[in-house]
Amino acid sequence: MQAGDWPRNTDAASRMDGTTERLDPDAAGVARAADLLRAGRLVAFPTETVYGLGADARQGEAVAAIFEAKGRPRFNPLIVHVPDVREAERYGVFPAAARSLVAGGWPAGLTLVVPLREGTGLSPLVSAGNPTVALRLPKADLAQRLLRNFGGPLAGPSANPSGRVSPTTADHVLSGLSGRIAAVLDGGPTEAGLESTILGFPDGVPTVYREGVWQAPASMPRLTKAGEGRADAPGQFSSHYAPKGSVRLDAVTARPGEWHIGFGPVRGDVSLSPAGDLREAAAALFSLLHEADAAGRDRIAVAPIPDRGLGRAINDRLRRAAAPRQAFRL
Ligand code: TXA
Ligand code: MG
Repeated sequence: MQAGDWPRNTDAASRMDGTTERLDPDAAGVARAADLLRAGRLVAFPTETVYGLGADARQGEAVAAIFEAKGRPRFNPLIVHVPDVREAERYGVFPAAARSLVAGGWPAGLTLVVPLREGTGLSPLVSAGNPTVALRLPKADLAQRLLRNFGGPLAGPSANPSGRVSPTTADHVLSGLSGRIAAVLDGGPTEAGLESTILGFPDGVPTVYREGVWQAPASMPRLTKAGEGRADAPGQFSSHYAPKGSVRLDAVTARPGEWHIGFGPVRGDVSLSPAGDLREAAAALFSLLHEADAAGRDRIAVAPIPDRGLGRAINDRLRRAAAPRQAFRL
């Protein structure tokens, strides 16, 4: 679809000029990105997990434009990215368990859902009416430079149309959102290629809302997992991570007509990791699903992935990709 084909019957769309700038990861690019954000525009930026779709979290219209550009439902709250722990504590009330997690420096790939502090100027749209706020301090150098230059909180869901695979390159961002956002800051492929782990603290107890790239240290007591159907992480629709084609899991061999994604000894047409390395597989996952989309693969088979460590997060994404599609793609 060309930029000019996007619907123009909304206020946000009518403000867009239909072109999306690709910005270099140098000082000029960062300054331009921060200026656009201050002007209430949308700028996609790389973190160590996936590309986020940034907007000033204090500007309601900018935040609303995120939902519009993504076609995302309003009741789905957004992660707020901050440059340091101090800024995080301006917006959220950190329970003791959250405080100890960030005491020695905020770990990469970890998002904390904590009670929202009232009257801090965050747009209420960011929390979608929830009394909590999801906060994250990204570690990627380019994300930090952008946050420092911008000097405020950035609302940032993954920079993909809602219900589609998260982007791990600027090209992925453009293939889904070109013409709908002001710019993408191009920092090359993201390091992890998988989203952040989300922890909440209902009754002060650290609870996994979404498996992701951060793994709890062995010294930590076993983390509770949020129950199925629980409303705490409203974005966890079962088909949230779906490529366009159907997906069959645990496929040791392909059936006729299937595009086979391998792992380890299962070679496939293409492999998540020929060496059977879960980190390599995590980094390749969204790229391969994008590749399947781009090549118009309508039947995808995926080799079994061991359900341990990062494999649990990979399998979680794959199960979502394989789940029956919702009647309405939200
Ligand atoms: O790695 C990541 O987390 C990336 C990068 C860009 O930071 N972001 C990302 O955002 O994956 P998104 O919006 O695609 O997923 C955020 C998830 C959603 O499922 C959302 O519902 C949940 O976080 N979430 C956000 N705020 C929440 C809150 N206050 N309570 C519960 N869940 C929340
Ligand atoms: Mg997402």
